[in-house]
Amino acid sequence: MRNILFGDDALPLLKRIIRGSIYMEGLRGAGRVHFIGQVEEVGDETSRIRIFPEYAKGLYKLEDYSHIIVLYWLHLRDNEKDRSVLRVIPRAHEGAPEVGVFSSRSPSRPNPIGLCVVKLARIEKNILTVEGLDALVGSPIVDIKPYLPRAEMVADAKVPQWAERGPRT
Ligand SMILES: C[S@@+](CC[C@H](N)C(=O)[O-])C[C@H]1O[C@@H](n2cnc3c(N)ncnc32)[C@H](O)[C@@H]1O
Repeated sequence: MRNILFGDDALPLLKRIIRGSIYMEGLRGAGRVHFIGQVEEVGDETSRIRIFPEYAKGLYKLEDYSHIIVLYWLHLRDNEKDRSVLRVIPRAHEGAPEVGVFSSRSPSRPNPIGLCVVKLARIEKNILTVEGLDALVGSPIVDIKPYLPRAEMVADAKVPQWAERGPRT
């Protein structure tokens, strides 16, 4: 049957738009991330994150939160080999089986993005002092977001037993 509204050529395109795959094709290309800062110092108790001056304005009112989400670039795993990892055995968690990388918090993954909820101890100009950061010195910062218990905390979340052992992530 002829497609009288859009013409025959438009039909495959229309189907792809309806399935959403036209966006997928676009997303397969490279996105661009602008790092907003860097982990400057990592200590036993606290760590220091330097936000680049051109982004400092974006920290306004962040001190109203006790905890923040830090998204960082696992830069030492940003290579072909680590980015091709799709199956892992999370060895830091005793007894963990092999799992898909997206079922783990492995630092080797297709996009080396680390996520850490930390306590915000203080902000001095463009320097954040935080507690509980697991990023290495020099890790570029991708983003900072406030931690919102109402959005992020799930009291009855299901987790495999192995993930309850060993480090938090
Ligand atoms: C298991 S990963 C979890 C990372 C993060 N908490 C998450 O869940 O996405 C944490 C480990 O990544 C490693 N790591 C931290 N920063 C890194 C970096 N910039 N490049 C490579 N490895 C890094 C450290 O060895 C750290 O113990």
